[in-house]
Amino acid sequence: MPIATIATLSAYEGQTVTLQGWLYNLRASGKLLFPIFRDGTGTIQGIVPKAAVPEELFETLKNLTLESSLKVTGEVRADSRAPSGYELDVEALEVLQRVPDETPFPITLKEHGVDFLMEHRHLWIRTPRQSAILRVRATIIKAAADYFDQNGFTRTDPPILTPNACEGTSELFEMDYFDDDKAYLTQSGQLYVEATALALGKVYSFGPTFRAEKSKTRRHLTEFWMVEPEMAYAGLEDLLSLAENYLSFIVAAVLAKHRADLKVIGRDATKLDSIHAPFPRLSYDQAHQMLVDAHAKGLIDTLHQEGDDFGSPDETYISSQFDRPVMVHRYPAAIKAFYMQPDPADPTRALCVDVLAPEGYGEIIGGSERVNSYELLLERIQAHNLPVAAFQWYLDLRRYGSVPHCGFGMGIERVVAWICGLDHVRETIPFARTLNRIYP
Ligand code: 4AD
Ligand code: MG
Repeated sequence: MPIATIATLSAYEGQTVTLQGWLYNLRASGKLLFPIFRDGTGTIQGIVPKAAVPEELFETLKNLTLESSLKVTGEVRADSRAPSGYELDVEALEVLQRVPDETPFPITLKEHGVDFLMEHRHLWIRTPRQSAILRVRATIIKAAADYFDQNGFTRTDPPILTPNACEGTSELFEMDYFDDDKAYLTQSGQLYVEATALALGKVYSFGPTFRAEKSKTRRHLTEFWMVEPEMAYAGLEDLLSLAENYLSFIVAAVLAKHRADLKVIGRDATKLDSIHAPFPRLSYDQAHQMLVDAHAKGLIDTLHQEGDDFGSPDETYISSQFDRPVMVHRYPAAIKAFYMQPDPADPTRALCVDVLAPEGYGEIIGGSERVNSYELLLERIQAHNLPVAAFQWYLDLRRYGSVPHCGFGMGIERVVAWICGLDHVRETIPFARTLNRIYP
C-alpha cells in the first residue's frame, strides 16, 4: 500500500493508502466507530461499520486508547462535510504501542488550565491547534529568510557567547568562560552584523537571543528567535521600506499556504488580507499627540507624558487606529539605545523605528540608523557606563571606513503571535522559556 500523509490525501482519492500516525479521538455509535487519526500533517476521520471489517479489527479499535500509535490502511473517500474534505474507510489496522489504560493520555478534549498544558507541553504540541501554530511558525521562519536570500542579503551568523551587552546590562544571562572570564548569552547579534555589513554590504542574522528580563507579560520570553538585517550605505527611509515590504512578504507566504491551519487555530484570516505595503508612518511626536487627544476624549485612561516610552495600552491604542502595522519613528534619543544615530533635524530624536502590529500585538520590529561617528560613539559608550575596552572592536568599525548604516531586529515569536492571533507568546515556540518556566 502506498504510504500517504493526511495533508496530501487529495492525490489519493479513491485509492487505498496507509497512514502512519496516532489515534486522536474516538467516537462510537452502536455498530459504527468514528476514529479520528492524526499524522502530524492533519487529522482525518475514519468510518468503521462493524459489518464491514474483521471482528478483531473492530474490537481492537473500539478499545483503543487515545494517542496510541498505529498504521491504518483504508480507502480515501471525498466527503464535503469532512473538515479535511476526505474520510477514510478503514480496512486494516496495526497498533504499534497501545497507551495503557492505567496511564491515559493526560490531555483530553475538556478544558485544561494553561499551567497544566505548559507542564505537558511535550504532549500538548500534538493537539491540532498547537500543531497548526508550529506549522505556521515554520513558514514564517522560512519566509523570513527567503526574503533576504532573494534580495541580495548574505546570511552571517553572530556568536551566541559574547563578551559584552548589546541591549542593556540588566538583562544579561551570565556564565563562566574559563580562567576567570565571564561570557554572556547574546541579547542581539546587531553589533556583529554591523561588522559583517561593512564587510559584505547587505547582511542578516537569524538565531536565538536571550534576555534575563524579569517581565511576566504576554510578549516576553527569556529565549527567543530574532532576525536582524543590516545594510551599509542605507538610512532610516530605506529601513522603513524594507520593514513594510518584509512583513508583507511574510504575511503573503502564510496566507498562500496556511488558510486551513489558520482556521484550525481560530484566526480570522480576513484581518491579514489588508497587510500590504505601504504601512502608515507616525513620528513619536505625532503618536504622542494622538494619545493626548485620545485621553482628552476619554478613550484611554492614562495621559501619555511627552518624552516617555509608550506603554502597552498606548501601543494598543495607536495600533488600533490602523488596519496594518504602523511604523513609529524618531523616538526621543534619551529613551533609546546608545548606538542610535541622532536625527540631524533634531538631535534630541533618534533615527529609529518601532513597528507596532495591529490588534494590540505591540512592537514586532525595532531598528535604527547607527551612530557612524567615532567621537560620538565613544561619548555614548562612556555616557552609558559601558566598558570601552570591550567595545574597541565595535569602535574600529568607525575608525576604518565608517558609512551610514542601519538595521532592525524582528522577534519571530511576536510575529507568530500576531499572525496566528494568539493571546500569549508561550504558544508560538515549541518549548517556551519564561521567567517562571524552564520545564519541560
Ligand atoms: O527592540 P529590540 O530590543 O532591538 C534589538 O535588540 C536591536 N539590537 C535589533 C537590531 O536593531 N538589530 O528587539 C528587537 C525585537 C523586538 O521588536 C521584538 O520583536 C523582539 O525582538 N523581542 C522579544 N521577543 C520576545 N521576547 C522578548 N523578551 C523580546 N525582546 C525583544
Ligand atoms: Mg525595542
